[in-house]
Amino acid sequence: MVCLGNICRSPLAEGILKSKTSPESIFVDSAGTAAYHIGNKPDQRSINVAAKYGLDISRQRARKISVKDFDTFDRIFAMDQNNYDHLLLLARTDFDISKIKLILNEAHPNQNRSVPDPYDGESSGFENVYSMLDEACECILKKL
Ligand code: 4NP
Repeated sequence: MVCLGNICRSPLAEGILKSKTSPESIFVDSAGTAAYHIGNKPDQRSINVAAKYGLDISRQRARKISVKDFDTFDRIFAMDQNNYDHLLLLARTDFDISKIKLILNEAHPNQNRSVPDPYDGESSGFENVYSMLDEACECILKKL
């Protein structure tokens, strides 16, 4: 799960997909395309909305995406078009490129919607992000 800072959207996506699967069946992780928040906990507003739905994401720590992630993961879900474009630039081969997906296309195929960046907005934006990601993760789960 990849966003810009790895403190708002992708930690929620990681927490939600993990909550629907087991660690033995699928390894889920998240990262940011930027380095601003490396080592930081998720944004308190993401921690709060996750807690409201029974998920504890407070032990996650932000990291930056690395080219090695293309070797570790079968799928790399971008939260928005900017993250997607960043991942495309990092990809080394067509096989790497084939792993990159816009996460909302899982629920809304071919529409290329982005999960809005909630960082500078109200806490209601985090509720909105949660529900979009919950729907997308349900679809990922069904495909798996
Ligand atoms: P995220 O949100 O990409 O969903 O983690 C952001 C977090 C931090 C910043 C921007 C977006 N920032 O500019 O620091």
